[in-house]
Amino acid sequence: MSTIYDVKAEVAADTLLDKAGYEAMYRDSVADNEGFWKKQAAIVDWIKPFSKVKDVSFAREDLHIRWYYDGTLNACYNCVDRHLATKADDVAIIWEGDDPQRDLKITYRELHKRVCRFANVLKKLGAKKGDRITLYMPMIPEAAVAMLACARIGAVHSVVFGGFSPDALAGRIHDCESNIVITADEGLRGAKKIPLKASVDAAAAHESVTTLEKVLVVRNTGADIEWDAGRDHWLHEMEAEVDDDCPCEEMSAEDPLFILYTSGSTGKPKGVLHTTGGYLVYAALTHKYVFDYKPGDVYWCTADVGWVTGHSYIVYGPLANGAITLMFEGVPNYPSASRFWEVCDKHQVNICYTAPTAIRALMREGDAPVKKTSRASLRLLGSVGEPINPEAWEWYYHVVGDERCPIVDTWWQTETGGILISPLPGATALKPGSATRPLFGIQPAIVDSEGVELEGAAEGNLVISDSWPGQMRTVYGDHQRFVDTYFATFPGRYFTGDGARRDKDGDYWITGRVDDVLNVSGHRMGTAEVESALVAHPQVAEAAVVGYPHDIKGQGIYAYVTLMDGVASSDDLRSELVKWVRKEIGPIAAPDLIQWAPSLPKTRSGKIMRRILRKVAEDEFGNLGDTSTLADPGVVQDLIDNRMNRS
Ligand code: PRX
Repeated sequence: MSTIYDVKAEVAADTLLDKAGYEAMYRDSVADNEGFWKKQAAIVDWIKPFSKVKDVSFAREDLHIRWYYDGTLNACYNCVDRHLATKADDVAIIWEGDDPQRDLKITYRELHKRVCRFANVLKKLGAKKGDRITLYMPMIPEAAVAMLACARIGAVHSVVFGGFSPDALAGRIHDCESNIVITADEGLRGAKKIPLKASVDAAAAHESVTTLEKVLVVRNTGADIEWDAGRDHWLHEMEAEVDDDCPCEEMSAEDPLFILYTSGSTGKPKGVLHTTGGYLVYAALTHKYVFDYKPGDVYWCTADVGWVTGHSYIVYGPLANGAITLMFEGVPNYPSASRFWEVCDKHQVNICYTAPTAIRALMREGDAPVKKTSRASLRLLGSVGEPINPEAWEWYYHVVGDERCPIVDTWWQTETGGILISPLPGATALKPGSATRPLFGIQPAIVDSEGVELEGAAEGNLVISDSWPGQMRTVYGDHQRFVDTYFATFPGRYFTGDGARRDKDGDYWITGRVDDVLNVSGHRMGTAEVESALVAHPQVAEAAVVGYPHDIKGQGIYAYVTLMDGVASSDDLRSELVKWVRKEIGPIAAPDLIQWAPSLPKTRSGKIMRRILRKVAEDEFGNLGDTSTLADPGVVQDLIDNRMNRS
């Protein structure tokens, strides 16, 4: 039985909402959804006020989602310019380098100047409203500046995580037909150099990349890099030639703000498209209430801007709220396992938002690296990206937060734009492992496999019954895929792909993906993507990939590989396949375990029975269920005998 903490007793009484406040606001948000979102939209400044709030249909044949759609605004203006009147000299971004000796504070005035110059550089390179610009950046201030500069001129950014391979980068440049890529000479993480520009060169050489015209390069480490004089431009050289004045483009609320690629259960990654008005309202509002953000608080989200968490909760949400947002270039355990907490002390961080995988990795190092730091500035802790196991939750609460800081376990997705289910500090009783309650306007439901809604305490598929402003609008270039992926399984509702349990108090517990998507260290990875990378290897005939429980990563990647006839299995080949996947997709997709499978368990119609593969990978083969529909039941015994994960 988990402990339940009544946080009302533990946090200062001045949180933005208490329990009754949350309940009243939630009730209003559902009873008069349009009225609620009309009022909340005042969290951003509009150029032309909207008169229409919501136009949504979740029906498959007429799927459309529009919010505030006759209003106009500019996201960059909201994150930067509008703060100049009252907080020009306040810090906007604290940057903490990989090297603990390096940091930087950027005020709103400086941010404005940097963003304007950057935007003028983009214009000089030929960027126009509506262009798709790919960012492949390290965690340096220029990453945020580049995103805001795109938003300023109405270009659509597509940030690709710097850990993705050149091939993966090429696929994303190709899919959204980017004309410009912004990168740095190298990135730095845990004292390791990441050759970003070299990867861009390799991606650009890919035959599928036909639209790329310009590469804008930030000088970061000063490394020697290859240079294509017709295509490549240094940011610092171009910035010297432009001025500080760049007007904001007036954007319709439904104009795209960004594309972010994410893995699904089938095929190549999808370009999740978010638009301007609704996204910004939702990111700002959720940032304010979930993190109980008050002026002057130092807020730190440890994510990378390559993921949606970095978009909504390092850049857009906090900056729209005029917050102090900390950007960290490094990793949790460099130079030591105390680093996170040293950063908290150094910058007097009040709110720290990180991922369970980081918490578990640090927990393994024991309490001493935490206890040697003060952490007295911390007031609130957050978790995101994967289910947090109660043991990690307890450690985070007792050891890191000294039993003083509530933990907000925030459930959401790239598709949702912002947090949908989370406790609010001071308002919600916490339960280790539960994301607890829906935020304003969010109507979660649990349905069985037939789509029948389950009432009361129940477990099943998590769906959302009505739209919210931060919801994705489409899959870039493939609206049908949007419809089929999210609105076909349970007609009339948004299907999250997650399973969930609702307890008798009405609190939600996310149980993990119910589709073929893995969550490895909080990173989403489609089994189909890893499988197609494996079968692209000349010696691989067939591959099936499943997840299995992993102490640090949450889920590890377990691959069953059938080799081509005549190819001998060996440990060398195993390492080669791991290297191959790293090259094809990136290190985050590297299989943890590879089992040689002379054949895979298939039904008579040729469908791979993943249920069996999952059980064997979990070392839980005692209860394999019905195997009578297998074409060759004998296959299973071989898999069991040669399983790689034995506890
Ligand atoms: O399975 C859920 C898990 O992460 C998935 C979304 O991944 P992504 O789009 O990469 O976004 C991650 C950051 C928002 C979800 O479908 N997930 C995310 N947060 C939680 C979670 N699972 C359990 N608890 C969470 N707090």
